[in-house]
Amino acid sequence: MNKTIIVSNRLPVKIVEENNELSFIPSEGGLATGLGSIYKEGNNIWIGWPGVDVQGEREQREVTQRLKSLNLIPVFLNKEEIKRYYEGFSNEVLWPIFHYLSTYANYNYQNWLAYVQVNQKFADIILRELNPGDTVWVHDYQLLLVPGLIRLKQPEVSIAFFNHIPFPSQELFRLIPWRKELLRGMLGADLLGFHTFDDVRHFLSAATHLLPIHADANRLRVENRIVLAEPFPMGMDSEKFSRLGNDPEVLAHIQNFKQNFNGKKIILSIDRLDYSKGIIQRLNAFELLLSKNPEYIEQVTLYMIVVPSRDTVPQYKRLKDEIDRLVGHINARFRTFEWHPIAYFYHGYPIEIISALYNVADVCLVTPMRDGMNLVSKEYVASRNDNTGVLILSEMAGASKELNDALLVNPNNISEIRKALITALNMPKAEMEERMKAMRAVVFKFNIKHWVKIFMNRLQDVKQMQKNSM
Ligand code: G6P
Repeated sequence: MNKTIIVSNRLPVKIVEENNELSFIPSEGGLATGLGSIYKEGNNIWIGWPGVDVQGEREQREVTQRLKSLNLIPVFLNKEEIKRYYEGFSNEVLWPIFHYLSTYANYNYQNWLAYVQVNQKFADIILRELNPGDTVWVHDYQLLLVPGLIRLKQPEVSIAFFNHIPFPSQELFRLIPWRKELLRGMLGADLLGFHTFDDVRHFLSAATHLLPIHADANRLRVENRIVLAEPFPMGMDSEKFSRLGNDPEVLAHIQNFKQNFNGKKIILSIDRLDYSKGIIQRLNAFELLLSKNPEYIEQVTLYMIVVPSRDTVPQYKRLKDEIDRLVGHINARFRTFEWHPIAYFYHGYPIEIISALYNVADVCLVTPMRDGMNLVSKEYVASRNDNTGVLILSEMAGASKELNDALLVNPNNISEIRKALITALNMPKAEMEERMKAMRAVVFKFNIKHWVKIFMNRLQDVKQMQKNSM
């Protein structure tokens, strides 16, 4: 029986070590949920890094064995590979360039070599598992070379690639010293998926200008093979977030939060620690609101969750210090004996707490500088079963192309964010409901299942086009 192999840098599990015992906790992430319907079926598998440093052959064998029962196959990375391939190249070259922060990029040849070598390591494990007729679906910027490396050995196999982060303008992309190798790697796929039409346009422009290669609209010819590049805006599990609103545990948390906030309005902000998320500008906008509109003092609280991430990369460490400083400054400047403006948390929380927060927040403030899609905005919308609540969303997030009933803002314009906050905090119920209903229709229709289905169908179309063109 033919199988589907999903490949991503991280496996959809968290491995936690307690009292010398390893336990495996399935991830709640959007991708894991969406692809659960695929990799858990039949002989399908998911290949990726387990996210922890597992040393020693015996321990690796044991982890491999335990993951096998979950249809997962590990790619073990040593400390040097994590430092150079994951932190150094993926997160210090590709991440900043793809998010338009070219000044943060650190081009280091040794890190590039490690990226090539680790992509080869992934490809070798895929090739070991791969039979003719199987389908491989590779995810995200950490593995751009993998489609090409598989194609070299298995010219006929179906390979799809999805880029979960923005694809930058070719003027940015061309800055990378190894741009041609990266493009050639991606073009090993038959279908290349991006979140938005602009990402597709940028990719096509990079491929046609930098390689060069011929493209007819979104159809490329790579050594006589048709390759398609298309937008597939990713959805999320809207039903799950809607259902959580009635879960007894979530209802208890909602009750608690409501008691604590005692009628005050709540502005919610949730992100991974990342400079692409616009956290500093968001804090500046909130400070501007409190200084220009003192009527909101003691009336609103910014509930800000920052989930720790990549804090071994220098830019992330610096950002963490800057956020700590700014939150301290704003709280010290405006707090009163009864109230403090920002409730700031530097941790991840279980989905029940997050769902309760989505339910109690009057406003959800999502203002990334750049974001491939941004699922927080969609999760907030899916959680609002009573059609209330206001979403303020950056026009630089992929989600803004679909959620155009949000209050859309330019994340660099802190005065515009302040005005959007005032509009949101005073929005009449009827307008709130009208906007929320329209956004809910989008997130429920284009959910994660729909995304997986249309992507996989399109891959079959490309294979058919290739056969017809022979
Ligand atoms: C983004 C990327 C993912 C990545 C996630 C968490 O959403 O698109 O590929 O897994 O961030 O980042 P991390 O570096 O912790 O895997």
